[in-house]
Amino acid sequence: MKTQVVIVGAGPAGLLLSHLLHLGGVDSVVIETRSRQEIEATIRAGVLEQGTVDLLVDSRVGERLQREGFVHEGIILRFAGRSHRIALTELTGRAITVYAQHEVIKDLVKVRLDAGGKILFEVKHAALYDLDSPAPQVRFHREGKVHEIEAQFVAGCDGFHGVSRPSIPSRHRQEFARSYPFGWFGILVEAPPSTAELIYAHHERGFALVSTRSPQIQRLYFQCDPQDDLKAWPDARIWDELHARLANAEGWKLDEGRIFQRGIIAMRSFVVEPMRYGRLFLAGDAAHIVPPTGAKGLNLAVNDVRVLSSALVQYFKSKDEQALKGYSATALKRVWRAEHFSWWMTSMLHRFHDGTPFQHRLQLSELDYVVNSKAKALTLAENYVG
Ligand code: DHB
Repeated sequence: MKTQVVIVGAGPAGLLLSHLLHLGGVDSVVIETRSRQEIEATIRAGVLEQGTVDLLVDSRVGERLQREGFVHEGIILRFAGRSHRIALTELTGRAITVYAQHEVIKDLVKVRLDAGGKILFEVKHAALYDLDSPAPQVRFHREGKVHEIEAQFVAGCDGFHGVSRPSIPSRHRQEFARSYPFGWFGILVEAPPSTAELIYAHHERGFALVSTRSPQIQRLYFQCDPQDDLKAWPDARIWDELHARLANAEGWKLDEGRIFQRGIIAMRSFVVEPMRYGRLFLAGDAAHIVPPTGAKGLNLAVNDVRVLSSALVQYFKSKDEQALKGYSATALKRVWRAEHFSWWMTSMLHRFHDGTPFQHRLQLSELDYVVNSKAKALTLAENYVG
């Protein structure tokens, strides 16, 4: 098989890249290890920056998102039992939209398949070859046969554990990493929204987050031990912990409901530089990871793909390599801003078990500063909305 760009991975980065290339007249094939059902059911974050929404709408894949997504113009920071609103829209003129990542995936898969796009699901043993030549190849197994795709470029959109990044010889990449001594316990609950805006709560027992998905389904998270066992958390313990961490002097109460999905999310920061090797370009989690606080992961992937798709389209239109040469540096600028923001939000809001009382007082002072200084609130807001 031959194509112009072979895309490894059908997550948000790979699918959106394939869609944007198609709109720009560039042919691609997407390969994915998981099944369509699996990628459409994987529960991830659900906060889209204004720029992400605009790109999806402008590329005609945002119709359901506009209909079913929820626009939020502020968030709540809660600490010392009190709530403080960060007025995102008043401060920045922009808003965020709550719409689950797997819904974005469904919309993208549909728009690609409707346009006759090729997505090969359930491929095995994918391997990348000749990345430093003008004719890179991807080989894989599917339905018992070995297949090979020859392309002019390979896009590595296969996430943190994918084959793309390790295919870059180690002497050609530099990696930056930090892990955190906690994870997030995430649940989906059948209940009405308890709050009109997301609540980020700092508490001595640990961080908690009240988010939403729809008028019937709520998304809640709380800081936990990354090695925690789901079985150690019966429903009653989960609710006790959430109520304790969300305690407030304002008479607000969290509504309970049936918990129908639960999982533990690891927290890490990671960046690889550069995001290119020869004819391989990395995008999304294959190149960088942020801890979930602030929900930047999907938005960063979308930004990578915005830059990469336009550079590839330019190349195929005019053989002008300038934009492709600038891809890594352009994408990394945004990546490092989001790395800093996600690290900062994580550091300010979580309980560090090895933290000293001094550090805890610094966290409270910083939170106090964020909610009382317009300059600091604006810093949070403009990073949050993107
Ligand atoms: C959600 C996830 C986040 O990481 C966040 O900061 C806000 C909301 C969510 O899944 O709804």
